[in-house]
Formats: sequence, C-alpha cells, structure tokens
Amino acid sequence: MNKLDIEEIVRKEIVDTVLKTQEFIVAGNWKMNKTKQEVQSFLNDIKDYDFGSKNTVIVTPPSPYLYLFEEALRYSTVLYGAQNVFPKESGAYTGEVSVDMAKDFGCKYVLVGHSERRSLFGECNEFASKKIRILLQNNITPILCIGENLDQRKYENYKQFLVTQIVEGLSRIEEKEISKVVIAYEPIWAIGTGETASPEQVENLHMFLRNFLVERYGENIGKDVPLLYGGSVKPSNVKELALAQSVSGFLIGGASLDAQTFIEINDILNGK
Ligand code: PGA
Repeated sequence: MNKLDIEEIVRKEIVDTVLKTQEFIVAGNWKMNKTKQEVQSFLNDIKDYDFGSKNTVIVTPPSPYLYLFEEALRYSTVLYGAQNVFPKESGAYTGEVSVDMAKDFGCKYVLVGHSERRSLFGECNEFASKKIRILLQNNITPILCIGENLDQRKYENYKQFLVTQIVEGLSRIEEKEISKVVIAYEPIWAIGTGETASPEQVENLHMFLRNFLVERYGENIGKDVPLLYGGSVKPSNVKELALAQSVSGFLIGGASLDAQTFIEINDILNGK
C-alpha cells in the first residue's frame, strides 16, 4: 500500500468518526413554498423516519402549515419552528404572527433576521434584537441569521459587518442567555444561487466568529453558541462543509423542500 492509499484510509476514518459522533443542528427553511397537500406528503415521508438521536432536526414551514406539523410530528424527534414572529404579545399588528401563536402550535425555534427579511422587509438589527428577547422570554430558541452580500465581501470590512449584526442582534438579552441563541452564517451571495462558500471559506469565517464570541462574551458562553452555515447546502457538499471547524450544523433552504433530499442530508450527517 502506498502513502497516498494510507492517507486516504486515515482521512476516511476521520470523516466517518466526525459524522458519526459530532452533534449537528440540521434546520430546513422552507420560505414561502408548498401547498397543504405537499406539506402532508412531506410529513408522511419523514414522520416515521429514524433520524437518530445525535442531531437536532428542525423544519420551519410557512406558519399556516404549523398545525399540520403539530399533528404529524407528535411522536417524532423532528422539531419545527416558525420563519418569523412579531416582537409584541398581541394587538393591532395586521398580518403578523405572535410568539404565543408559534408556541401554541409547538414551535421550538424561530428564524430571526434572515437576509430576505432584512432586504425585502427592511428589518434591522434592532428589530432582530427585540424578537430575540421575546423569544427567549418564551423559551423558544432564536436562530439569528447573519451574512454579507457580494459587494460587502469585495469592498468592505465585511467581518466587522457580521460582528455588528451579532452584537446588535444580541443587545437586548443578558450575557448568560447568549448561549441559548443559535447563529446562522449565511453569505447572501450563496443563498439560493447554487454557489456555496468553500469549506475553507466557511471554516475561516466560523473560526473568526467563534474567536470573536469567546473574546467578547467569555470562554464559557462563546464556545457554546452553535454556529450554523447556510447557503446552497445540498447532499453533494454537506459532508465537506460538516468537516469545517466550528460548523455546528446547517440552515438549508432549497434542499430541505424535498423529503428524500432532506433525509439524504440527515443520513450523511449521521455518518450513514
Ligand atoms: P438555500 O437557502 O439553501 O436555498 O441557499 C438558505 C437560506 O436562505 O436559509
């Protein structure tokens, strides 16, 4: 056996061990997709599937379909959440969904500050911070999305931009609550474009964010905040991305819509 063969065998062993032992968060973001019938069919395909107990599997459907998730996933390990809530308890906020409503239907997670909400609906860091506070008050885990666009990446200090998104997004909660928030790094240029950040780019950025969190909030808090990657994650690239350091899981758009593809991604992240 030559040196390259041995290296390949060792690498495969390491990959298998990481995938079989590391705990990942695997969250699907459906955005504004699917009919009721399509939702039912997806749920039928996943509700009895064995996703194992190592990873945390989450789906965030459009809110009108949450009741179907509540019904179908009662005995499943798959968790679900809402894509958005309004940071007030109740009142004259036409068109909005409250945290209580999300909670009523069993949501355990809510996305906050997704780049589409920021760019299409003008949501800012301050608004995200209000949502994060009310979600934590209600024991729902916020998934705070951050990410730079291509121009920022090319011409600006985009790392500082990301840091500001984090600091301002977390500004309304106490330090001890920070490790209850999940952060998803989603470079806007990689969302829905088919263009993924390379494992090296993801690792660099995640290591930078991890160091920043530890420096700013201390070792105990900073090392515990899960850092997800999102942006064109699919079965063909998830394994390499999972090996990047400080990647605690994924926020998956397009590839979470099809039950078999979602299952395939989960199988890979279970080392199957
Ligand atoms: P994508 O979306 O996987 O389709 O790129 C990710 C997201 O927007 O959360």
